[in-house]
Amino acid sequence: MNLLFKFWNSSIGKKWLVALTGIALLGFVIGHLAGNLQMFGGADKINAYAEFLHNNQKLLWVMRLGLIVCFIGHIFTTICLVRQNRAARPERYSISRNVQAKAATRSMIYSGLTVLSFVIFHLLHYTFRVTDPRFKLIAEGGKLTSVNDVFQMVVLGFQSPVISGFYLLSVALLSLHLSHGISSVFITFGLESKKSIVQVGRYSMLIAVLIFLGYASIPAAVLLGVLK
Ligand code: HEM
Repeated sequence: MNLLFKFWNSSIGKKWLVALTGIALLGFVIGHLAGNLQMFGGADKINAYAEFLHNNQKLLWVMRLGLIVCFIGHIFTTICLVRQNRAARPERYSISRNVQAKAATRSMIYSGLTVLSFVIFHLLHYTFRVTDPRFKLIAEGGKLTSVNDVFQMVVLGFQSPVISGFYLLSVALLSLHLSHGISSVFITFGLESKKSIVQVGRYSMLIAVLIFLGYASIPAAVLLGVLK
């Protein structure tokens, strides 16, 4: 217990927690992307996947609870860490390093807050389906084909350029957040060296760009009429 308390109280302990919850969230982002890309396999494919998830409520809820714990843990620990660092920061860095560190932290906070507001909208949009009356029909198995026609719901949702634009902007900021976050994980765990730091930065950027292209491809394909 004492050890846990010491771990939580230390700045490095909090950094580890932010990194570990971040890795779990990245795992979800990649898994969710793999699921979403089944849109390109056609309605039957993505709808069968959604049905599989909905028929496995235990699995779904274990995943949801894990996600909620990691999401809240990631945000809460970050807030505590920023406050702790602010309180403890003497004029330790040179002015330019201090400015750089502050800019990086600020960009992480802003991109993180945008991702948070995106996730809230996204849940209202596709999970609770309260933003578009047509989605309620889909959820209730009304006029629009089967009970869980996720394919049709996503196509209808992204036919609005405003909604698609908001998704594109949000996944761009998510990718920016991930690019910085992934390289920070390496630094937190002491896995980078002076030699590898540039490569770590490049690979983090590559992963983030691939994630952006993957998520962006769906609204883009709907707007271009490839998915309809
Ligand atoms: C083009 C981009 C995306 C599409 C098409 C998409 C699609 C969907 C759909 C259709 C659902 C509801 C599934 C169902 O109830 O059957 C869903 C749920 C969800 N999505 Fe996304 N998503 C996208 C991007 C994202 C991103 C970038 C994140 C995270 C940062 C995210 C996080 C979530 C979460 C947390 C849920 C709730 C999962 C649950 O039911 O517990 N999504 N998404």
